[in-house]
Amino acid sequence: MPNLLEVKQVTKKFGGVVANKDITFSFEEGNVVGLIGPNGAGKSTLFNMVSSIFPPTEGEIWFDGKRIDRLPSYKIAPLGIARTFQNLQVFKRMTVLENVMVGLHTNSKSGILSAAFKLPGAKKEEQKMYEQAWEELKFVGLEDVADVEAGNLPLGKLRLLELARALATRPKLLLLDEIAAGLNHNETAAMSDLILQVRKRGVSIFVVEHDMDLVMRVSDQIVVLDQGEKIAQGTPKEVQNDRRVIEAYLGTEEEEEEVSL
Ligand SMILES: Nc1ncnc2c1ncn2[C@@H]1O[C@H](COP(=O)(O)OP(=O)(O)OP(=O)(O)O)[C@@H](O)[C@H]1O
Ligand SMILES: [Mg+2]
Repeated sequence: MPNLLEVKQVTKKFGGVVANKDITFSFEEGNVVGLIGPNGAGKSTLFNMVSSIFPPTEGEIWFDGKRIDRLPSYKIAPLGIARTFQNLQVFKRMTVLENVMVGLHTNSKSGILSAAFKLPGAKKEEQKMYEQAWEELKFVGLEDVADVEAGNLPLGKLRLLELARALATRPKLLLLDEIAAGLNHNETAAMSDLILQVRKRGVSIFVVEHDMDLVMRVSDQIVVLDQGEKIAQGTPKEVQNDRRVIEAYLGTEEEEEEVSL
């Protein structure tokens, strides 16, 4: 299998903060790769660069054989990359279905304007988008609340809505940034099942998650960051037994204990 995503010596600086330092790794099509590390390790920063929200300070990112690190972010989704956000980004006054449709419009050939002006071709595309949106709402189990305003949904359902919206664009690579944050035990287990079902559809998935049960269960490979640096990469088992990984996590717990004293 060829590499779908290649991160080559990527560094990101925010003023004096080095959020990512010389990170290199690649991952094969069809895999689920977990990205873990203590708070502030640089996980979301790396996701933001893969989705071209901002460019790396140094290094290159390649997706599906194309260099993508200097592309404007609107060109990323059409290449086949979709994501969800750590801090949810849903339109609270729109219905669940409309939220998923919006994700598709920004990705459509005819675009929002031609849909608004009902130009030729737009109607057919609109129908297709509607069908795709429904399909994904059913997939995540939100069809019963399709007409409910998103602002009225509990957190667990909002996370599913973000997943549906990302999936509706039919990505090759799906980035999930803490998709289980704030979910209870059962919801987290159900989310793990869903991620594995998405994998079965042939979608490659890059998962940032603090819930270790979820990460260890869904990931083929895990990349570990600490203070901006990649400190380990391997199978879930390899990473769990890695001395530097254990130290990085224990170190954080000790610091937290000190704070709480
Ligand atoms: N847009 C930004 N501007 C300035 N500093 C930033 C920005 N984004 C991230 N940082 C800084 O970069 C470092 C890494 O942050 P990042 O959000 O990538 O960590 P993270 O691993 O996702 O953490 P968490 O698990 O808490 O979400 C932190 O010091 C953070 O304050
Ligand atoms: Mg983060």
